[in-house]
Amino acid sequence: MSQTPTGGPNVLVVDDEAGILDSLRILLKNEGFTPHVAHGGRQGLEQIAALTPDVVLSDIRMPSVGGLEILSAVKQKDPDTPVILMTAQATLQSAMQAVNEGAYYYIQKPFRNDELLAILRRATEHRTLRVENKVLKQEIRRQQRSGLLRPVGKSRAWMDVLKLAETVAPTESTVLIQGESGTGKEVIARYVHELSLRSEGAFLSINCGALPESLLESELFGHVKGSFTGAHKDKGGLFSAAAKGTFFLDEIGETTAATQVKLLRVLQHREVIPVGATEAQPIDTRLLAATNRDLEDEIRRGAFRRDLYYRLNVIAIHLPALRERAEDIPLLADAFLIKQASARGEVPKTLSESALDALVHYPWPGNVRELENALERAVILCPGEEIDASHLPEKLTSRSPDRLVEQRETPNPTLDAIERAYIMWILQSEGGNKTRAAETLGIDPSTLHRKLQRFGGEG
Ligand SMILES: Nc1ncnc2c1ncn2[C@@H]1O[C@H](COP(=O)(O)OP(=O)(O)OP(=O)(O)O)[C@@H](O)[C@H]1O
Ligand SMILES: [Mg+2]
Repeated sequence: MSQTPTGGPNVLVVDDEAGILDSLRILLKNEGFTPHVAHGGRQGLEQIAALTPDVVLSDIRMPSVGGLEILSAVKQKDPDTPVILMTAQATLQSAMQAVNEGAYYYIQKPFRNDELLAILRRATEHRTLRVENKVLKQEIRRQQRSGLLRPVGKSRAWMDVLKLAETVAPTESTVLIQGESGTGKEVIARYVHELSLRSEGAFLSINCGALPESLLESELFGHVKGSFTGAHKDKGGLFSAAAKGTFFLDEIGETTAATQVKLLRVLQHREVIPVGATEAQPIDTRLLAATNRDLEDEIRRGAFRRDLYYRLNVIAIHLPALRERAEDIPLLADAFLIKQASARGEVPKTLSESALDALVHYPWPGNVRELENALERAVILCPGEEIDASHLPEKLTSRSPDRLVEQRETPNPTLDAIERAYIMWILQSEGGNKTRAAETLGIDPSTLHRKLQRFGGEG
């Protein structure tokens, strides 16, 4: 893997500006990497054929051979070699596309050295841990894709969320973001980071549920050489990599008791002890956490530590389910249609009245993510310019109550959730007519009105 086994990871830098090559060479060398530079895309291709770099860092726009060609040449040679693309605002679109096509990351010019170094370190570590890190990699790509939209919505419930996020952003407080799956927890976490005083630093995150305990701890805290089989050298953890930035602990409810004890320590003392080390290292990271579980419930079950919960829950942001803010559905739908169209270089499709109606009345157990997926599918299925109800998943227009239960993402929905879904379904089959819906449900219209107000979506 390394041409110079004594040096650090081999980084191939491809750019058509000699000045950038020079400064990156010096920077990388000083930081313990072994830099190789290629002046322009053609030289880049030659070097890729000749060397086996650990990471490739390439400009996206270069005359004759561009970054995307570099990307595909690297991927052809070894799909596990991370490629980081450097992009200017003008080429952001192609960078996003490149991430979809397997680029590890893109970094926007001008960037700060520490930002680049953090990404490079992650990328090299990533390569060594490539098998276990498949999950993490997907996660990072997904983040890249999902982080590009501003939080869309105008409902009262959503505006309250944004306002709270904006208020807590400039503080150093730990924030716990709770909400059902797909409600936008990560979107809000990024929003908090972007509005914070740490926005120049990195936003790093880990899905605590995606890695086995042993790996999770070494990812979070780092490890020292020899602490376990395969630990060939010291490695910094994500807490340290997110220095001066924000670290987002996603799916915090999935952590084991042992990891929870260690996290508690991090929060209390603001320091980490790498796996196998005896000395603690101070950290300078803002912490955000998210979960779709009811942590109070988990505490009662003995699955989550109360003291950790209090430390995390300094500020709580609760994200409403999409069905509780149905008035945001048209806006979100438009935003997704525009996003998909721009990714394909097309004109956004529109929604027919019946399609919009179906979208607004469906209870969306998978929330915003499910809505986004439904529209992505609709765009593919719809040959024309206008998406119709027939291009939407059948369950949106289906009338079978059994399906209503099966659709739930939770294996055992609460009675309340079923009631809510059933009411929405009847309301939809009655074309939104509340008087007729109340009749079918066998309840008083005022009772229906109250229930709908409680759900928040319709009122
Ligand atoms: N307000 C919003 N504006 C634009 N896009 C949104 C909004 N909320 C969510 N999304 C999109 O919906 C998808 C799901 O959001 P996100 O990943 O933040 O949800 P989550 O609550 O973290 O879900 P999970 O619990 O499954 O991890 C993403 O693609 C995200 O971009
Ligand atoms: Mg999430």
